[in-house]
Amino acid sequence: MKKIVMFLVGAALVIFGVTSMAQDYEHEVTSGDMSFAWKIDGDTLHGKMSAPTKGWVAVGFNPSKAMKDANFILGYVKGDKVTVVDHHGIRNNAHASDEKEGGTEDVTVVGGSEEGGTTTIEFTFPLKSGDALDGELVPDGDTMLLMAYGSDRDSFRVRHTYNAEMTVNLATGATK
Ligand code: HEM
Repeated sequence: MKKIVMFLVGAALVIFGVTSMAQDYEHEVTSGDMSFAWKIDGDTLHGKMSAPTKGWVAVGFNPSKAMKDANFILGYVKGDKVTVVDHHGIRNNAHASDEKEGGTEDVTVVGGSEEGGTTTIEFTFPLKSGDALDGELVPDGDTMLLMAYGSDRDSFRVRHTYNAEMTVNLATGATK
């Protein structure tokens, strides 16, 4: 009996720990119906993106123009499977997988959900992945943040129904 109680307490702590960790973001920006929350922990960005779609949701960092050269993180939830990918802007209006372009897949999936028509994806990404296709995220300075989501299809090929860009300071959360 004692063992069972200890197990239940342990399990509750794990669940509580995971939940509270996932919600522990320090900054948040919104654009239209989409939001991006994040915190910087050492050399890692912890991100959470959410948008009213049953398809993909994505953020991008530091394009040279439109989508070109940006580091993209896209994700969708299909059934109970969360798919998150690390892409790179290959043209003003197109992106491709880092791996296909000779780079590396550097995003780590933390979790994801699709509830009430809203998709939320949580991930971590190194500030300095070492992959030239990702560039480097410099917290205390200007970062060009792209946010976008697609229609209700679980495919990274369908174009955005919403996209936006803003300048943020990842260290302070200030926007311009
Ligand atoms: C999933 C596949 C995607 C396709 C097929 C796609 C396609 C396009 C196209 C054709 C344009 C040219 C402008 C237009 O006609 O609207 C464009 C522009 C743009 N896209 Fe994407 N895109 C995709 C994903 C993304 C993602 C993931 C983001 C950001 C997180 C993004 C951000 C932008 C921005 C900032 C522009 C330039 C501003 C604008 O023209 O509105 N795109 N995209």
